[in-house]
Amino acid sequence: MKKILIINGPNLNMLGIREPDIYGSNSYKDLLGLINGWAKEFGCEAECFQSNHEGDIVDKIQQAYSDGVDGIVINPAAYTHTSVAILDALKAVKIPAVEVHISDVNTREEFRKISYAGLACEEHFIGFGFEGYKKGMEYLVSKG
Ligand code: DQA
Repeated sequence: MKKILIINGPNLNMLGIREPDIYGSNSYKDLLGLINGWAKEFGCEAECFQSNHEGDIVDKIQQAYSDGVDGIVINPAAYTHTSVAILDALKAVKIPAVEVHISDVNTREEFRKISYAGLACEEHFIGFGFEGYKKGMEYLVSKG
């Protein structure tokens, strides 16, 4: 059974409260419930990790290497647009990764069009809401 790690960056624990016009009214807990359901549907193990701290996300990606994780779904949130450290961690472990954004970052402010982590990702699911995580998991599970 494939092990998929789902990483969410800063402020995603505030889903449902933060800017619901952009991110919707469902909570982070709701997202975890959906992910558990999709893991059953796809027959994979899913571990979810959320942090507001860049270094903790880097540590978790490094840990994934020793844990034998098969794929990473990552929404680095604001760190997408700033973090070379997260990009380097993804490149270091060479675990297949996909980038997810709930909103369509390409139609928002200019600074959101830059994605460092995305440079180390095989696929990008952007602007699909919570469904983006499902698409990311499905991609990683069904990849050879
Ligand atoms: C986000 C988009 C980012 O620009 C933003 O900083 C977030 C969430 C998204 O999922 O749409 O926190 O990654």
